[in-house]
Amino acid sequence: MAGMNILFASSEAAPYAKTGGLADVCSSLPKALAKENNVKVVLPLYSSIDLVKYGITEVMHGCCVHMGNCEEFYSLYHANESGVDFLFIKFDKYFHREGIYHTKAGEYGDNPFRFSFLSKAVFQVDKDIGFIPDVIHANDWQTSLVPYYLKKDNDPYYKNTSSVLTIHNIGYQGIFGTEFIEYAGISVDDMHDNAFESFGEVNLLKGGIAFADKITTVSPKYAEEIRGPIGSSGLHEILNKRGADLSGIINGIDADVWNPSTDRDIPYNFSVKSMGGKAKNKQELQKKFGLTERPDVALFGFVGRFADQKGIYLLQHAIERAMNEMVCQFVVVGSGEQEYEDFFAGIADRFPGECASYIGYSEELAHLVEAGSDFFVMPSLYEPCGLNQMYSLAYGTLPIVRATGGLDDTVDNYDESTGQGTGFKFSAISGQALFDTIGWAVSTYYDRPQHYKAMQLRAMGKDFSWIQSAKEYLELYASIEKRDGEIYV
Ligand code: ADP
Ligand code: GLC
Repeated sequence: MAGMNILFASSEAAPYAKTGGLADVCSSLPKALAKENNVKVVLPLYSSIDLVKYGITEVMHGCCVHMGNCEEFYSLYHANESGVDFLFIKFDKYFHREGIYHTKAGEYGDNPFRFSFLSKAVFQVDKDIGFIPDVIHANDWQTSLVPYYLKKDNDPYYKNTSSVLTIHNIGYQGIFGTEFIEYAGISVDDMHDNAFESFGEVNLLKGGIAFADKITTVSPKYAEEIRGPIGSSGLHEILNKRGADLSGIINGIDADVWNPSTDRDIPYNFSVKSMGGKAKNKQELQKKFGLTERPDVALFGFVGRFADQKGIYLLQHAIERAMNEMVCQFVVVGSGEQEYEDFFAGIADRFPGECASYIGYSEELAHLVEAGSDFFVMPSLYEPCGLNQMYSLAYGTLPIVRATGGLDDTVDNYDESTGQGTGFKFSAISGQALFDTIGWAVSTYYDRPQHYKAMQLRAMGKDFSWIQSAKEYLELYASIEKRDGEIYV
C-alpha cells in the first residue's frame, strides 16, 4: 500500500540531532518510505542544530500546546530532505541547552516534562500544517506518550489515525517520579500495572506499549529476547500481553550516507569491483591515529557509546590481552562513561604505534574507521539491532559480534571448513570469549587470506537497504484496524 500519510515522532533524527542509532533510523526509514508516501518527522529544535547549514527556516510562530494548567507557545521550523518534511519544534525553555538529554553533570531533571511536551506538540503540529496522518510512528520512551494521547483524547481530527511504537532499546524506559503527570495529562486512573505504573513510579515506555496499536522492535531476534525476563528489563509481562501486536523488523542503512563507493567522509572510495581504495583508507587511518603504517597487520576498529550495553568491559579485557599476545592494531572511537573514557584515553601510551583512540563524537572518524579497518568489534551484552555491524559489512570490514539481537540476525558466522560467512560470532559474556574470537579472526586474516577476501566481498554484496524493511512497515501500518476507545491490556 502506497500513498499513506505517515508522521514520525522522535527526539532525534540524523544529521540534525544524534546520540545513536535512533537518529539514523528516524531519518533513513522516513526517507525510504517517502519514495511512495507522504512522510513528516517531528523533532525538537535543539540549540545545537545549525539552521544555516541545513537550510532550516521558520514557518510558523505563536503556536500553542496546552499542558497541565498552562499554555506553552512554540515556533515551527522546517527543512525538506530527500522528500521528507522535517518539522522542528522551537521551544527554548526545554530545548535551548547544551545537551539533548544530559550534560556531564547528569540527566536533565525536567526530561519527563520536556518529552511529554514534545509528544503532545506532535498533535498540534499536524493541525498547524493541516496534515492528517494515517499513522503516527512513535520511537522509544521519549515519544511513548503519543499512542496514549491518541487513544485517550479521542480527537475526531484523528479518527482514522493509528499508532505504532518502535522500541529501539528497552534498556531505556523513561522512568520518573509522579510529579509531572498533571503537566503531561496522564490520568491517575492510568497509573496501574497494565499501563504506566511501575514500582510506584511512571514508566513511559510501558505506557506506550499498553496504548500503541502496534509495537515493533528493530530486529526479529530482539523481539524474541524482550519477551523473556532477562532481555526485557522487566517489561516482559506487558509485552507478552501485547504479544499479538508485537513484531521485529530489522533496520536498514542509509545508502546515501553509508556507501563506500560514494562516501564523502572517506579519502578513497571503493567497491566490490575496485577494492584498491580500502587499503589506502587503512593507511590513512593508521596515519591519522599515529599507528605504524603497515598494510599487512590485522587492524580492528570500534566505534560506539561507552556504555555497559556495548560490552565495553569485555573489550577492555580483550584489547589488553590481544595487544600483548597477537600481531594486531586497534582503533577505538567513542565517548560515554568516564571510567571507560579514561581507560581508552590511556591506551595509546601503553601500546604506542599499535593502539589508539579518539574520545568524543566524530562522524567523519566513524566513516574512516569503517572504511580502513579489517575487522570491527561489537561485543554487546545486548543489541536491539546495531547499525555499525551493517556499516562494517557494507565496507568489507568483517564484524566480530556477540550473537545477540540484531547482531545475530545480520552476521553469518564464519565456517572454517567451507570459508562461508560474513563475520565472527561468540556467545558467552566473557572477555575470554571475545579474546578467543579476535584470535580466530587474526588467524583467518594471516593463515586463510583467501577465506578472508571471499568473506569481504560476500559481506559487501549483502543487501542492507531499507527496501524490504520499509515494505514490512507499510504492510504493518496498513494492517491496523483501529479499535476506538478499546484498551488493549
Ligand atoms: P546505539 O544506537 O545503541 O548507540 P547503533 O549501532 O544502532 O547503536 O548506532 C550507533 C550510531 O552512532 C552509529 O551510526 C555510530 O556510528 C554512531 N556513533 C556512536 N558513537 C559514535 C562516536 N563516538 N562517533 C561517531 N559516531 C558514533
Ligand atoms: C538503539 C539500539 C541499537 C539500534 C538503534 C536503532 O539505540 O541500541 O541496537 O540499532 O537503537 O534502532
